[in-house]
Parts: sequence; structure tokens; C-alpha cells
Amino acid sequence: MGWRYYRLQLLIITVDNPSPDLTNPVSIAVSEGEHTSGVSARVSALSPPYPSAQAGESAFGKHLGPSMAKLMTALGTNIQYGEREGARVRDAFTGKWFWDCHRNGSVFNLGHRNPTVLAAINDAMGQLEIGNLFLVSGYKALAAEKLLASTDGLLTGVVYTASGTEANECAIRAARGYTRRRKLVSVHGSYHGMSAMTIAAGDNSELCERYLLDTSDFRKVPYNDIDAMRAAVDRETACVLLEASPAQLGFPAPDPGYFDAVRKICDDNGAIFILDEVQTGLGGSGQFWLWQTQRVRPDIVTTAKGLGGGILPMQQC
Ligand SMILES: Cc1ncc(COP(=O)(O)O)c(C=O)c1O
Repeated sequence: MGWRYYRLQLLIITVDNPSPDLTNPVSIAVSEGEHTSGVSARVSALSPPYPSAQAGESAFGKHLGPSMAKLMTALGTNIQYGEREGARVRDAFTGKWFWDCHRNGSVFNLGHRNPTVLAAINDAMGQLEIGNLFLVSGYKALAAEKLLASTDGLLTGVVYTASGTEANECAIRAARGYTRRRKLVSVHGSYHGMSAMTIAAGDNSELCERYLLDTSDFRKVPYNDIDAMRAAVDRETACVLLEASPAQLGFPAPDPGYFDAVRKICDDNGAIFILDEVQTGLGGSGQFWLWQTQRVRPDIVTTAKGLGGGILPMQQC
């Protein structure tokens, strides 16, 4: 409850103050006690919530787990966002500006605090809230219509989810339910999320082992290797789940004709072709969707991250 309130507060204040000057961060507006209770918290987005980088790191380690803070320190990327505009972010404590080439895995496809996105959200918040799952929403329909138009009419329906993980989980479930088969083929180096099924579909044997996942129905083949794909897909395969360009491999380009070949292998075996465009979609690869470079029609495309415009968590499959 307190955490949600804090997040909401941060969002609203950021919207209302488009050009915060964080050169000299002022001290925080609430004490740590009020902040963690969340009842009367008033955290200003103009100032970092902790008075120093060390205090922020130590609170992060204490409340969210120390490993990420330690890793960032070890990698030398222990930056705490302060001011952010377009493609640049500024460290809240050192004042140093950075070009954000990382994009948080495509969350910031439209840049940080894109003014058009902020204006639309600001406008919506004057009247709208999350809505009711059981009622028709013209807003959801219109957003779906626009997304589908981006596929040149090749895809015809949308399912909204809350993360890229869930989008992929939903796509795998749909493929299994439709084909009544269990087997999934994906590529080496891929990442599809952190639910049990998406971990099993991705390439991380350590996590599969740690969480005792049953991977007997999950096969992996090298990216861009059509022969290996053909050998792995058979009439027991529910789907091929292909990360359009695996980020962990350094974003290799698909060979000309690769997506088409995978499409044909799926068709020959009655399997569903799912393309994970969580990182490459929504303009992340230059085209709106990477599959459009090969004019192929996947059965399901998953997207996430950038769909929220860098402000809201919103995904779709
Ligand atoms: C290709 C790909 N698929 C799926 C996911 C999972 O998305 P999320 O973190 O929103 O669950 C990610 C996240 O980085 C991703 O890069």
C-alpha cells in the first residue's frame, strides 16, 4: 500500500515538474520512517529520496536485496537516476550526464519523459483510472486497434498483460491449448522472462536447476540455424518461441529468409510461430517490428516495455 502510494506520488510530481534542476539535490522531504510506513509519505521527485548515493544503495540492499547494488558497484554502473530528458540521464549525486544507450531493454524507446507521452498521461489522469476488468473499455479497444494496424492487418487480436514475462507465458499457453501439444523450441542465448515456463523456454540452465524446473519439453537450437530448427521441430511441437534478435547474444541480425524458413517449418509441423519482440519491437530495431524486415507473418508477437512509453508498465501479446 505504502509502496504503491509512493510510486504514484513520484509519477504525478514528475509530470507536474517537467524540468527539475537536480544539480544540487536538496534533502529529502520525508524521514525514512514516514517513507517506509507509506501512510503520510510525501516524497518529492525533485530530490532523491535518500541524502547520498551510499544511503540509497544501502537502503536498496536492505529492502530489495544486496546483490543488485553489489553487482552495479562491481560493474561501475552504480548510477542513481536524477534528471532525465530524451536520450540523456543525469546521476542524481555526481551531476554527470549520460547518453542512455542501454534503454532499459527498450523501456525507453521514446526517450525519457517523452513530452507527448507525459501530456497524454497527464490528460488521462484528469479523468481516467485503471477501469474494470469486467466492463467494455473503448480505450483498450482503440489502443488494440492501433497496435494491430502496426502489423499491416496480419495480426487480428490483442491480449493485455502486465509484463513481457506474462505476454510470453500467455503466448505459450495459447499455443499449448490450441495444439494440445507440450513441446517448445527456442534458441540458444534467448531470454523470455522469469515465470517457470518462460525461464524453461529461455537459455539459463542455472535458473532451471535452482528452481527445479521440468525442461523435458523445451529444446534449444542455435539462432539463424535453419537445419537445426528443422531437426528440432516435429509433430509434437506446440510452438517455436523465437526471440527476434537475442539480446544476450548481442542483437545478431536474422539472416535473410530466416524468419520465413522458421515459418515454413512451423507450417509443415502444425506448430505455432511466436516471435518475442519485447526488445526489438515498437521501433527498437529500426522497423516497427523486426519481423517486418522479412515480410513474414508470425502467429503471435509479444511486446512489452516500450509500450508503456517509459512511464507505465504495459504489455501485450
Ligand atoms: C526478449 C525479452 N523477452 C521477455 C522479457 C521479459 O519482460 P519483463 O521483464 O517485462 O517480464 C525480456 C526482459 O528483458 C526480454 O528482453
